[in-house]
Amino acid sequence: MKFFIDTANLEQIKEAQALGILDGVTTNPSLMAKEGITGETNIINHYKEICELVDGDVSAEVISTDFDGMVREGEALAALNPQIVVKLPMIKDGVKACKYFSSKGIKTNVTLVFSVGQALLAAKAGATYVSPFLGRLDDISTDGMNLISEIRLVFDNYKFKTQILAASVRNTMHIVNCAKLGSDVMTGPLSAIEGLLKHPLTDSGLATFLADYQKGN
Ligand code: E4P
Repeated sequence: MKFFIDTANLEQIKEAQALGILDGVTTNPSLMAKEGITGETNIINHYKEICELVDGDVSAEVISTDFDGMVREGEALAALNPQIVVKLPMIKDGVKACKYFSSKGIKTNVTLVFSVGQALLAAKAGATYVSPFLGRLDDISTDGMNLISEIRLVFDNYKFKTQILAASVRNTMHIVNCAKLGSDVMTGPLSAIEGLLKHPLTDSGLATFLADYQKGN
């Protein structure tokens, strides 16, 4: 399973990259705003910086909601760096734009997916990635993980090449469960990724090893 970090924070991206496990980055307008990155020029420059920090795919979201606007924005974003994946909302014009970009060989990530039907449409439009938001489904007492499992089934039935990018991952168990279900990618915060490191028996075992080493010296 590929690991993407879901942030626009450069320090956190560097931290995940340094761990040696990072396959890419996802961002969205809210994550950009959280870092105080506003205005077209600053946002473009920020994407360029992120691309320099990582080797993998970097999702950059369009703001337009009409086909022409999405194409204009997406083409400009894709021209920044071959790592850029044009992130498009799951709306009618987003599906059309997805088809347009996929027919031109430009990578896409269809975002804000909350149903199997939406994922199926994105796959048929040739999306590189489809992003089901499992945490936001959990937030409304709906089983987000079940959506990942159902999309996996449908994509496998028809051998769609579209990769399932489990998004809105909030914690370490989300990551583990996505891996069990065969999600191709997960995108989550650094805290959830680093949570995978933790086990009390690792800590106590290491403390014992170090203490025993000291006794012998
Ligand atoms: C995905 O690409 C989104 O940026 C993200 O995963 C949304 O997560 P949230 O629901 O925690 O905001």
